[in-house]
Amino acid sequence: MLAFQTIWISENFEKQLKDQALVQFRGISKSFDGAAYAVRDLNLSVERGEFFTLLGPSGSGKTTTLMLLAGFESPTTGEIFLDGKNIVGVPPYHRNIGVVFQHYALFPHLSVFENIAYPLRMRGVPRGELSSRVGKILEVVELDGLESRATSEISGGQAQRVALARALVFEPPVVLMDEPLGALDKRLRETLQEEIRRVHRELSTTVIYVTHDQSEALFLSDRIALFREGVVEQIDSPNGLYCSPKTSFAAGFIGENNSLEGKIVSGSNQVVQIKIHGSDQIVHVPICGAHRHGAEVTLCIRPEYITASPSQSESPQAHRENEVRGYVQSVTFHGDHWRYCTVISQQENQRITVPLREKLSVKEGEMLFLRWEISSGDGFVVD
Ligand SMILES: Nc1ncnc2c1ncn2[C@@H]1O[C@H](COP(=O)(O)OP(=O)(O)OP(=O)(O)O)[C@@H](O)[C@H]1O
Ligand SMILES: [Mg+2]
Repeated sequence: MLAFQTIWISENFEKQLKDQALVQFRGISKSFDGAAYAVRDLNLSVERGEFFTLLGPSGSGKTTTLMLLAGFESPTTGEIFLDGKNIVGVPPYHRNIGVVFQHYALFPHLSVFENIAYPLRMRGVPRGELSSRVGKILEVVELDGLESRATSEISGGQAQRVALARALVFEPPVVLMDEPLGALDKRLRETLQEEIRRVHRELSTTVIYVTHDQSEALFLSDRIALFREGVVEQIDSPNGLYCSPKTSFAAGFIGENNSLEGKIVSGSNQVVQIKIHGSDQIVHVPICGAHRHGAEVTLCIRPEYITASPSQSESPQAHRENEVRGYVQSVTFHGDHWRYCTVISQQENQRITVPLREKLSVKEGEMLFLRWEISSGDGFVVD
């Protein structure tokens, strides 16, 4: 009976461990030499198999967070759990974490094969198994055939794939990548983004990825933590962050966005009326939760949700569409689209994008009527 109970309890304990997040930051803060906090009261969890991205502007604390997890920095306060164990104080080489940096940091005197084999040799993996594991990962990153090359004789993209293979070959529970594609040109970056995504899916490994490139984050991630000045502003899926940003910083950082300042003047049935500052123009905006009459708000509208024409609607769809007047500030060509910068109610730089073949016949200084649907997501309010 006792033996049965012991087995049951230990199985239950293992299940609990499996159920909990693989990585947990609890109340983590980091200040270097007593200076301002690089990371402040960070609480976040990363699930097994997840592709989790730390996104944010330069100096917002992304690398510091990764270094704390890798063990190259220690937190000032708080705890970090990996697979249920508090790893604060555990040296980096005992954390069993794969790391890829922006500058690949390969061993220049070793071949591609030896660079990738290095973590296996450090772990005493027998020769036969070592060869087969390196061979397999070379196939995954599509570098088979290049194994005997010196790393000084391969391209930047190939070097980054060697770094990726070296971080993955010992099958760590989590791989950290800090701007791994930052040094590459746009086209190569896009190719390797596809590759990282494919490798993540193929190996089902957990990846924590750092970038300040929002389109890279949207493309790669299951979830994104948006950093600002050492604090996480929002954690969400790419779709959630793009369509329902909670703050004007999030709305401005992810994708292009217009911000119009205004005041809530009335509301019913989850739709509020906002008077745009600087004029008498009123728009209708769906809102979650209770509206606060008289509140000063920022109304965000993505440029791609706005349609425009030089003339007013003949049949105004008062309950389905907003229509406001704007004046053209500039018209610019962007290859596959035109961009019109407008002034709405004295608020400048409100952008609209128009497909290449739908160029509007308006010039700078002329009036445009801008329309967008009154539906959630097309226009949203942030504080
Ligand atoms: N070793 C250090 N000593 C002192 N301050 C540091 C150190 N490392 C980082 N910082 C400071 O901590 C803050 C966060 O830096 P961090 O490197 O984490 O930013 P980041 O988000 O990775 O930025 P980037 O996108 O430019 O790489 C910055 O203000 C930076 O100057
Ligand atoms: Mg950094």
